[in-house]
Amino acid sequence: EKKISIAIDGPAAAGKSTVAKIVAEKLSYIYIDTGAMYRALTYKAIVNQLDLEDEDVLLETLLSTVIKLQPSDKGQLVFLDDRDVTNEIRFAEVTNSTSYVAKHQKVREEMVRRQQAFATEGGVVMDGRDIGTHVLPGAEVKVFLLASVEERAERRHNENIQKGFPSDLEKLKEEIARRDKIDSEREVAPLKKADDAVEIDTTSLTIPDVVEKIMVLVHERI
Ligand code: C5P
Repeated sequence: EKKISIAIDGPAAAGKSTVAKIVAEKLSYIYIDTGAMYRALTYKAIVNQLDLEDEDVLLETLLSTVIKLQPSDKGQLVFLDDRDVTNEIRFAEVTNSTSYVAKHQKVREEMVRRQQAFATEGGVVMDGRDIGTHVLPGAEVKVFLLASVEERAERRHNENIQKGFPSDLEKLKEEIARRDKIDSEREVAPLKKADDAVEIDTTSLTIPDVVEKIMVLVHERI
């Protein structure tokens, strides 16, 4: 059976990582969360009080930073210079700052280089914003996941409550909309559906429904 590359893009909190992980597991492929890489760099920049507008400082920092994505039974772990930052990179301050770090061309070039290196053999499911358009333009399957801002904020809100985290639905809506705006309007590799990506609106679909739709696309290609 041929090992293909699967690109899953879409706006914030559209369920990309949830379905990407399941698809990867079903196929015994590697799952790569590219957002976690931008989040890890952002976390380091915040801890070191770097200027998030300073492209050269951020690039220099990235070049001396090791970001590792490691599967485990608790889900994917993220290591920053050998420190486990899996939880820290989901903090609100990191979430709301990452779009600023991800705007810079030099930062993106280095991230894309690393991401492409993970995918040279195929057998990957990669999620992000620019996977189908820039990172893996030759991916055999490209999916663009969509859902209304209301739906995405409500899902995230329920997740927070389940985990016992404080959560404010109206604030989540604003933050998600703001992230989408910055990610879609940036000059370098903005959030955009690739021409050959299949759009899936998940607003009224369950997770298994979305996985099933993607698996149909996969089986057309392998
Ligand atoms: O996917 P996630 O929400 O974790 O991504 C966090 C942020 O990282 C996004 O809002 C976006 O600014 C940036 N990102 C990106 N390109 C990717 C993945 C994430 O610019 N491929």
